[in-house]
Amino acid sequence: MESPFKADIVKGKVALITGGGSGIGFEISTQFGKHGASVAIMGRRKQVLDSAVCALQSLGIIAVGFEGDVRKQEDARRVVESTFKHFGHIDILVNAAAGNFLVSAEDLSPNGFRTVMDIDSVGTFTMCHEALKYLKKGGHGRNSSGGGVILNISATLHYTAAWYQIHVSAAKAAVDSITRNLALEWGTDYDIRVNGIAPGPIGDTPGISKLAPEEINSKARDYMPLYKLGDKWDIAMAALYLFSDAGKYVNGTTLIVDGGHWLSRARHIPKEAVKQLSRAVEKRSRDKPVGVPTSKL
Ligand code: COA
Repeated sequence: MESPFKADIVKGKVALITGGGSGIGFEISTQFGKHGASVAIMGRRKQVLDSAVCALQSLGIIAVGFEGDVRKQEDARRVVESTFKHFGHIDILVNAAAGNFLVSAEDLSPNGFRTVMDIDSVGTFTMCHEALKYLKKGGHGRNSSGGGVILNISATLHYTAAWYQIHVSAAKAAVDSITRNLALEWGTDYDIRVNGIAPGPIGDTPGISKLAPEEINSKARDYMPLYKLGDKWDIAMAALYLFSDAGKYVNGTTLIVDGGHWLSRARHIPKEAVKQLSRAVEKRSRDKPVGVPTSKL
């Protein structure tokens, strides 16, 4: 799909993207690169990183991969430092690394819960914390807003509740809090903008194959009328908007990019039936003498 943005919208900027070797993180890396940014991607698996860097470079994107686990502070520090050493500045940190699996609350061990909290919530904070000094420096004078940018990939699960996702719901609720609190503190002190994106179900990602295998996916529309799969491209375009100066006045928000999916409710009465029913109910209440209980009519 062709981008609606100018090809130089983030020209000369440097992006560090955790989980940038696959799924949504890789698409963000690709689109940032295609729009002029240099890209550092962080991930745990060397093979995945190497092939992602090769794919980016084959598109003419300046890219480098750094192995590391966001759960380890020393890895976070090393990767952020290496990115700075390699490129000389860092303009955006994207926290796209995440862990997930379907499990009922009853069957989830506390360590399983902690593992996802550690990757998604603590990992996001750790990366932000390590990147701060560079985002202060690196972003300085580059964005109209003054400082660098942070973008946290979240979810909509925790807006209501989600089956078999207690760990991720809790973790992403924390991520949204991190987004708002850092937007307040670092927006005030350093002009750093901190935003999030809450993707809906996105096709061709590790997330969707883990959380909505084909057999679930095909039935989803019956009980979630607004259910449709988005593309990784949709998330990357939202990320570009928030990264670029087009988003210079946006701070502390988590942009939902899900086609309205989280609002989805099964239609309990067909449209034609509701017309008739509604008129009949009105007529009944018009005809009802005042003060006479319905049971006496
Ligand atoms: N159901 C229930 N519990 C599970 C589980 C599952 N499918 N997968 C892992 N766990 C539990 C483990 O049993 C363990 O708890 P225990 O010690 O009490 O038994 C705990 O979670 C940690 O598992 P482990 O496999 O040691 O963690 P890991 O660090 O190797 O892997 C995961 C982390 C589990 C999040 C793994 O799925 C992962 O690496 N995911 C990254 C990719 C991803 O999920 N992408 C999708 C993004 S939406």
